[in-house]
Amino acid sequence: MQTRVPFSPVIVGAMRLGSWGAGFDTKQYRTFIEQCVEMGATTFDHADIYGHFTTEEEFGNALKEAPGLRDKIQIITKCGIRFQSENRPENRIKSYDSSKEYIIESVEKSLKALGTDHIDVLLIHRPDFLMDPDEISEAVQILNEQDKIIDFGVSNFSPAQFDLMNDKVALCTNQVEVSLGQRKAFTDGTIDQCHRYRLPIMAWSPLGGGRFFSENPDAETERILLAAKPLCEKYECSLDQLLLAFLNAHPTGILPVIGTSKSQRVWAAMEAMKIKLEREDWYILWEAAEGKEVA
Ligand SMILES: NC(=O)c1ccc[n+]([C@@H]2O[C@H](COP(=O)([O-])OP(=O)(O)OC[C@H]3O[C@@H](n4cnc5c(N)ncnc54)[C@H](OP(=O)(O)O)[C@@H]3O)[C@@H](O)[C@H]2O)c1
Repeated sequence: MQTRVPFSPVIVGAMRLGSWGAGFDTKQYRTFIEQCVEMGATTFDHADIYGHFTTEEEFGNALKEAPGLRDKIQIITKCGIRFQSENRPENRIKSYDSSKEYIIESVEKSLKALGTDHIDVLLIHRPDFLMDPDEISEAVQILNEQDKIIDFGVSNFSPAQFDLMNDKVALCTNQVEVSLGQRKAFTDGTIDQCHRYRLPIMAWSPLGGGRFFSENPDAETERILLAAKPLCEKYECSLDQLLLAFLNAHPTGILPVIGTSKSQRVWAAMEAMKIKLEREDWYILWEAAEGKEVA
């Protein structure tokens, strides 16, 4: 891997920890972060917008309470979405902004909120249709030189958008939605591209955002659940572990960005990284999801 930031095998997503989910108080954040670190899940995934621009600060408050914790973790955060919120009244509509000024201003705000002097990995959250790779690379260079970010990557970029950006500044990842329920990245060149460049893919919503645990599964989910049952017995694992093992089977190294707020589920995810799915079992799951045999 070319990346300079060492990622943990499971990345802990922060999106649902605050007001967009668990509603943690400072003590709960601190306990959760410390438990994750103890298990070896040391990389945390943020975005400025999470919790309507409040989650980074709440997480930062927990770090302030526990000196030494910051040095044990890697922080990913994202910018580039002008999200409408009462905390950002200047945003007239939801839109994307990858201008140099906006990127630098966003990083300054994230650093302050998180109470840290550097962000390990900055991602552009979504491709801005008006993006200028030269301008973005200028912003990245300035932030790099000021030691405010260590590495840089993108999220939700198509292979063409990734190359456009990667020609200007070496990217460390593309964070995209990948799960057994969202397989586009396997077929549209996104995973192949990171494989070619020997970069890890980060898979957001690796458990489909919880859809596999819904009481009213759709037809595709029902097929997946049916195929998964005997495999969970065979590999002596839970459904969430099997779904993560499905991603981990890919040779490029798909890093799941999990969204739980429960430490026992983080532990289960770390354990899932030890499961080695047999090739035919992987295809049993793939074909169940597709609803048909491969050609
Ligand atoms: N780059 C992007 O554009 C983007 C977009 C979306 C998300 N993300 C990142 O990806 C992270 C993960 O996304 P996600 O939250 O959608 O991921 P996910 O891990 O697919 O889904 C998490 C949800 O599934 C539930 N869940 C997990 N295991 C379960 C189980 N065994 N039984 C019942 N429910 C279970 C969790 O509830 P519990 O809390 O109860 O476990 C939580 O509500 C986010 O935190 C964020 O960092 C990035």
